[in-house]
Amino acid sequence: MKKVICKNYEEMSREAAKLVAEQIKAKPESILGFATGSSPVGMYKELVRLNKEGEIDFSKITTFNLDEYYPILRSNDQSYYYFMFDNLFSHVNIKKENVNVPNGEVSDPDAECKAYDEKIEAMGGIDLQVLGIGHNGHIGFNEPDEKLIGATHRTGLTESTFHANSGYFEKPEDMPREALTMGLTPIMQAKKIVMVISGKSKAPIVKRMFDGLIGTDCPASVLHMHRDVTVFLDEDAASML
Ligand code: GLP
Repeated sequence: MKKVICKNYEEMSREAAKLVAEQIKAKPESILGFATGSSPVGMYKELVRLNKEGEIDFSKITTFNLDEYYPILRSNDQSYYYFMFDNLFSHVNIKKENVNVPNGEVSDPDAECKAYDEKIEAMGGIDLQVLGIGHNGHIGFNEPDEKLIGATHRTGLTESTFHANSGYFEKPEDMPREALTMGLTPIMQAKKIVMVISGKSKAPIVKRMFDGLIGTDCPASVLHMHRDVTVFLDEDAASML
């Protein structure tokens, strides 16, 4: 895994956006995998700027987001669907029909997950996947567990994730206790992976991820088995390395 240590959040966001922009320029019809959370927000801002300045064009881009709470309405401002339009899609020239986010409104989540994987597969897989990391080492909502799941699936959320995310909801109890998440197979099959990690609170899990041991206690550690991962960290996140 390649590490790029940046001075601060802004530099990390700019550097990560450069790689995404290069991908879009090299292949205008790229299939991009996107992530939510506070980590990639600055990178999305930079991509919006590059799009507005005519540097990059989203008109032929297709996207697949990593995850979504379950159940949740897309109109809920805490849904990842809402987040992606708010932070990126509403501000660039992407076609709405080319945007894919697991649908937290469906009554048959298993069918939704199966169809999601089939669609990714039919499109030839993801060219570049953006990832953040949870404090517990999760990627998407692939939470630490005895066994990890390859396919896109419905999952329960750990206490640690509830603790990290419930503050964003009006009342903590409004946060769904489950999610739909891309599994590790489509993530690991992405041709390129770009990870963004910022802040002191992520330093311990960053240390764990880079210790070279692959274990289900830290789902992000499976990335050691991928050939093309670039991790952009700010100095705080890298402070225990
Ligand atoms: C969220 C998302 C992940 C994200 C992670 C970190 O809950 N499911 O895809 O990478 O947790 O979020 P943040 O960047 O806000 O720390």
